Amino acid sequence: MSRTCPGLEIVAVDPHDEQALTAWYDAYAEAERHGRGRTATVWQLRELQVMLAEPSIRRRSTAWAGRVDGRTVAAGWVQLPLLDNLERAELSVQVVPAARRRGHGTAMLAHLEQVAREEGRTVLGAEATYDYDAGPDGAGESGPEFARARGFDLVLGDVQRILDLPVPDEVLDRLAAEAAPHHTAYTLRSWVGPVPEELLVGWADLTSSLMTEAPMGELDVERESASTEAVRDAEALVAKQGRTKYNTVALDAEGTVVAYTDLATTVHEPGRAYQWGTLVRREHRGHRLGLAVKVANLRLLQAECPDLDHVVTYNAEVNAHMVAVNDALGYRVTARLGEFQKRLA
Ligand SMILES: CC(C)(COP(=O)(O)OP(=O)(O)OC[C@H]1O[C@@H](n2cnc3c(N)ncnc32)[C@H](O)[C@@H]1OP(=O)(O)O)[C@@H](O)C(=O)NCCC(=O)NCCS
Repeated sequence: MSRTCPGLEIVAVDPHDEQALTAWYDAYAEAERHGRGRTATVWQLRELQVMLAEPSIRRRSTAWAGRVDGRTVAAGWVQLPLLDNLERAELSVQVVPAARRRGHGTAMLAHLEQVAREEGRTVLGAEATYDYDAGPDGAGESGPEFARARGFDLVLGDVQRILDLPVPDEVLDRLAAEAAPHHTAYTLRSWVGPVPEELLVGWADLTSSLMTEAPMGELDVERESASTEAVRDAEALVAKQGRTKYNTVALDAEGTVVAYTDLATTVHEPGRAYQWGTLVRREHRGHRLGLAVKVANLRLLQAECPDLDHVVTYNAEVNAHMVAVNDALGYRVTARLGEFQKRLA
């Protein structure tokens, strides 16, 4: 499929076409890295290739390149949830710095919106990263200004934080000791890689509620469906992408999974780990389990990967409990991420 907007030819990217994929990726990565330095969190080429080439049970992705005179200057990417949130489409638009403010972003976004419409999706999500000092609404920054100009509203403000590694053992020991008297009724369990079979149902259930149990502002999301099949499918995808997961759960006396946290590393970005989800079941809050699982998971990560340099995480700015845990661990504020949303008429 190809669509020509004034000055910009938009073509579908075949993930098996190395040349086209690389041109698309280079535009995406250049635009996302611009001005972000060490704080840029950019998907890696091989991770995206796997995601585009092999739809998972949970979501399907398509990529679009915007070309001027044969050169890719704009990148577009649509992700469609397949098990739940069937009204939504997550859109991503990038334009290389040298080609900005010529309407290419607008043309690419219009194309992606049309793709979403044709798929029957009516709620569009988009994310933009910007300087922390730009303030919660990102005034004056390209992504937020563009999103607002194109009819999107900021519905959730996240803050990016980075933790330098290693966290000294004394700090982890002190925090674990502070938390321990509060969670004597629970057991912590940590592992690397896929979820042990006996924890799979509990893990699928708890992790699928992250989207609705963490503060989500006005983001229009429904609870993800709890699917053990989707967990195994995602684990296979993660492995193909060259990523490794580090996980810790808290179990109550019956062995139910009541809290979890997970970190991921990727062979494509040595030195960095990403903090993914952390959640304590509502009725088990107040026992310092959030801190306890995070401390235990960091211990696991540091023992398994002593050469790591830092961990990156994102939290809703209003998520006071999680932010307090991260502050205690030593995370520093580094940037903002705005989650934008638009309803198609
Ligand atoms: C955001 C981005 C895609 C915009 O691409 P672009 O080709 O420059 O966008 P357009 O030329 O179509 O801009 C359309 C309108 O958005 C607004 N806009 C875009 N960039 C802006 C900026 N830096 N400051 C203020 N307004 C801006 C303006 O209203 C602009 O219209 P105008 O040029 O007539 O004033 C590009 O800057 C980018 O790749 N940024 C990094 C990635 C990103 O944040 N993407 C997510 C966006 S939700």
